[in-house]
Amino acid sequence: MASDAPRVTLITGSSRGIGRLLALKLAAKGEHVVVNYKKNVELADDVVREARAAGGGGIAVQADIEEPDDIDALFEAVRAEYGRLDAFVANAAASAFKPVTALKLHHLDRSWAMNVRSFVLGAQRALSLMGNDGGRIVAVTSYGSLRSFPTYASLGAAKSAVETYVRFMATEFGPKNVTVNAVNGGLIDTDSLEYFYQRVPGMAPMQSVIEKIPLGRPGTADDMASAVEFLLGPTAGYITGQTLTVDGGLTVVAPPFWADTSGELRAAVYGD
Ligand SMILES: NC(=O)c1ccc[n+]([C@@H]2O[C@H](COP(=O)([O-])OP(=O)(O)OC[C@H]3O[C@@H](n4cnc5c(N)ncnc54)[C@H](OP(=O)(O)O)[C@@H]3O)[C@@H](O)[C@H]2O)c1
Repeated sequence: MASDAPRVTLITGSSRGIGRLLALKLAAKGEHVVVNYKKNVELADDVVREARAAGGGGIAVQADIEEPDDIDALFEAVRAEYGRLDAFVANAAASAFKPVTALKLHHLDRSWAMNVRSFVLGAQRALSLMGNDGGRIVAVTSYGSLRSFPTYASLGAAKSAVETYVRFMATEFGPKNVTVNAVNGGLIDTDSLEYFYQRVPGMAPMQSVIEKIPLGRPGTADDMASAVEFLLGPTAGYITGQTLTVDGGLTVVAPPFWADTSGELRAAVYGD
């Protein structure tokens, strides 16, 4: 990157949620963001407007990352506008939430295309747009890559594959001074969390999970965006191939849970 030019970061799925917040954090530092979206053009345009108002810049680019031709067009738009890329954040995700026995061929194929193939194709194209100073790649994953819970097999397996690709890319891209990491989220308060707990038929109540989280609350989009921002930033230049978990401790607890204890034992932790 030319030292006086603002940094350019492409974030898939940044019209809403974690991606949007990350775009605005980077813009507030004067950086440029490529705001990718699938359907919500008005929301994406709003993010670009807010990015400019915050002192940065950017463009909105529609592309369905399930489609390889759209991925090509997305990176072509970056090349045409900026001629280079400094960071790529693979953030957008989608899958079918069903028991393994109910997963049909199209669920398996689409989940791979949307969550894994798009990351690999995107990282290849991002690398080719990064200059001699190198760059950063961050994938946003989730705790289904580490733990098993109802209906999440398809997306959890894809997130595991992404974290594995992160390690392989780190070794291959390191000599070009490109770091590759993942940020793995627990229960994060966004539209997709709402969908999972309210619209998947028979799903356990969200409160039954929240009470098991050591920090006692869902994460926020800001918790996630801050971790990604750190890995994109100047102090994280020697970190590569890693998965940083942002889950309030959700993946370190196991049954029996402190939340289910009683009497003096419970009081020792909760004070009640
Ligand atoms: N929310 C959680 O509890 C949680 C927890 C852990 C990890 N994560 C991870 O965090 C990431 C972001 O999650 P989120 O909840 O903020 O948002 P999300 O619901 O996963 O994604 C929303 C964004 O992705 C875009 N998008 C959806 N399908 C797309 C496609 N085929 N092509 C391009 N863009 C597409 C949407 O665009 P439109 O606005 O145009 O639809 C929107 O900008 C995901 O990787 C998710 O797995 C989330």
